[in-house]
Amino acid sequence: MPLLTIESTCDETAAAVIARSREVLSSVVASQERLHARWRGVVPEVASRAHVERIIPVIDEAVLRAGIERRAIEAVAVAVRPGLVGSLLVGLAAGKAIAAVLGVPIVGYDHILAHLYACRLAHWESFVYPCIGLVASGGHTSLFLLRGPLDAERLGGTIDDAAGEAFDKAASLLGLAYPGGPEIERAAVGGNPGAHRLPRPLAADRDRLDMSFSGLKTALRYLVRPPHGEGDRPAPTGQPLADLAASFQQAAVDSIVTKVELALERTGCHAVAAGGGVAANALLRESLEAIGRRRRMPVFIPPRSLCTDNAAMGAIAWERLERGDYDGDLLDVVPGTDRAAANRP
Ligand code: KG4
Ligand code: ZN
Repeated sequence: MPLLTIESTCDETAAAVIARSREVLSSVVASQERLHARWRGVVPEVASRAHVERIIPVIDEAVLRAGIERRAIEAVAVAVRPGLVGSLLVGLAAGKAIAAVLGVPIVGYDHILAHLYACRLAHWESFVYPCIGLVASGGHTSLFLLRGPLDAERLGGTIDDAAGEAFDKAASLLGLAYPGGPEIERAAVGGNPGAHRLPRPLAADRDRLDMSFSGLKTALRYLVRPPHGEGDRPAPTGQPLADLAASFQQAAVDSIVTKVELALERTGCHAVAAGGGVAANALLRESLEAIGRRRRMPVFIPPRSLCTDNAAMGAIAWERLERGDYDGDLLDVVPGTDRAAANRP
């Protein structure tokens, strides 16, 4: 009997139906990108309200596409941490109501661990633990020593902006649309990644596995609008835009992969799993795969649709349910970033 999973941690409203075998019977994602585009970033209150409108239709659609009756659902799983508090609460309220009506257990799962579980789902036969887990998204950028699906030790990560947030802000500076990651990636095609010397803060610091992206963003800002310049300039276009986007993308990816390599060296791990929206970036994917080839080790990256937020990765909840481990009515959300919420039971 299948599991219904719900994801509403940020700005996608998603639901999926997943068999015990981990086969994804359906996966529905309603993106709010268009709603947030005019603000060039997620507006939490707008996100919560949109989740309220969409959550039930999205769940209904997931059940319909799975070709099952609602009463066939064996349990309900909800991403309860980390994320935006209002967004999280909408998913939890819907999940609790459905579980209560159907008389089935509810189980909360961690959104960050779920991003890493997406790597496992996509590489079911070959996946290995332990490995270095990288989650790079709009809200989080962290490195973990992943010993099992539910056993992750945070080794380091951003000390300021998340990598995806930096892509979003860089896109905004360059006059590009939201979400910024795919826009920068597109704009960078044909650009020279070495055209501008942009900083890779903390990359040279081999004592820590932390990263920083806010200085990179500021450096780009000063390239686009010099501090003592003549005020607002038109957004760059053509080759100058491509060079700026390519230089930014290269610096952001370098900052991440340097620390992935350091994490491999420190832990002696021989595999990497990478998830989150930024793992959809072709340059990051290629750079991680190059590390794999050089070190002769596997690199597990899901297809792009499983990198950005989705509920299929909620399949991780089966790891607890199989052991008869689930939550009760007191299940609550843990808002914030992964720095606050990771490693909590
Ligand atoms: O995982 P996700 O969908 O949501 C969060 O949990 O935050 O990640 C969204 C983030 C956005 O910041 C978006 O700009 C970034 O992932 N992103 C990308 C790409 N696709 C999405 N960043 C770089 N390159 C991409 N192709
Ligand atoms: Zn995410």
